[in-house]
Amino acid sequence: MNTMTTTTDTTTKTTVLEAKGVTMRFGGLTAVKGVDLQVNAGEIVGLIGPNGAGKTTFFNCLTGLYVPTEGSVTYKGTVLPPKPHKVTEAGIARTFQNIRLFHNMTVLENVLVGRHTRTKEGLWSALLRGPGFKKAEAASEARAMELLEFIGLEHKADHLAKNLPYGEQRKLEIARALASDPGLILLDEPTAGMNPQETRAAEELIFAIRDKGIAVLVIEHDMRFIFNLCDRVACLVQGEKLIEGTASEVQGDERVIAAYLGTPFEGEPGAAEVAEVEAAEAHAEAEAEAAAEPEAAAETETETEAEAADEDEAPATDADAEADADTDADSTTSTTSTEGEAK
Ligand SMILES: Nc1ncnc2c1ncn2[C@@H]1O[C@H](COP(=O)(O)OP(=O)(O)O)[C@@H](O)[C@H]1O
Ligand SMILES: [Mg+2]
Repeated sequence: MNTMTTTTDTTTKTTVLEAKGVTMRFGGLTAVKGVDLQVNAGEIVGLIGPNGAGKTTFFNCLTGLYVPTEGSVTYKGTVLPPKPHKVTEAGIARTFQNIRLFHNMTVLENVLVGRHTRTKEGLWSALLRGPGFKKAEAASEARAMELLEFIGLEHKADHLAKNLPYGEQRKLEIARALASDPGLILLDEPTAGMNPQETRAAEELIFAIRDKGIAVLVIEHDMRFIFNLCDRVACLVQGEKLIEGTASEVQGDERVIAAYLGTPFEGEPGAAEVAEVEAAEAHAEAEAEAAAEPEAAAETETETEAEAADEDEAPATDADAEADADTDADSTTSTTSTEGEAK
């Protein structure tokens, strides 16, 4: 029993999101491997896993930022086109691990930008203030103000986004996502960088979003936050779904604990492959050594091992380099985009 199936009775619930066998490869690196995930109406589902597990990449596959190498994603029964704006139009909104706001626009304007997929006038008309815009403008502004009240930022509507404290910028991103009237919202580490009070407020906000009839899929590292909030939690390790279940099922699973503490365990995804490759390499190396210098190889076994270890570290492939760059950028608070652009 490696992967627990959902404990929610899916026959009586509407499936909002269905990801089937989603795989994403970057060159030689498989960041996401055959992941199935379902989100039903009215649910808050959590996605956890150590850094580099493939959580953000999976989100990018769901939102059309990446075209998955394999697998399919459907929203309310319709296969999603792999284009971010089409996915937003269909009803999926998201926030980003690295906050992406228009820093020199006001708080209100940022929410209005999120609204453009739902206005007939469109973004260009809005920016150029074309005919017909004025009428639509009033309605859009009223809706945007409603959302700012919902997140508790209405008193800062005319502040520049860049002047908001970090926690409020995260909330503003949520308001902007909500402005597209989604049926599902994907939140990538919504409490990263928040203090405990802000985190608790974010928890309340997410419950309130769910109560508005919007399904939620949330990535977080804060376990208390996740286990308080979620009806169901899935854990990714090295791109594979290790387990999925209720908070208490996942919380008590020794494999999840091991994944977070970095302790290897039996049946860990990838562990068998790694062991196999290491054994094959060691064997090949020993044979080569033995063929070249039969006596020396027998004598200096420790030296051979040290050399092998050195070589393991030396060659970096392009995929590695890219992956490293991406991870580095993610770990800073820089607002520079490292994922594909959303437009
Ligand atoms: N555009 C990309 N090109 C190459 N490798 C990538 C790219 N995006 C992510 N990766 C790699 O995929 C793996 C999963 O990354 P990510 O999805 O960001 O993990 P998580 O969000 O769980 O921390 C990492 O090894 C990362 O370096
Ligand atoms: Mg991530």
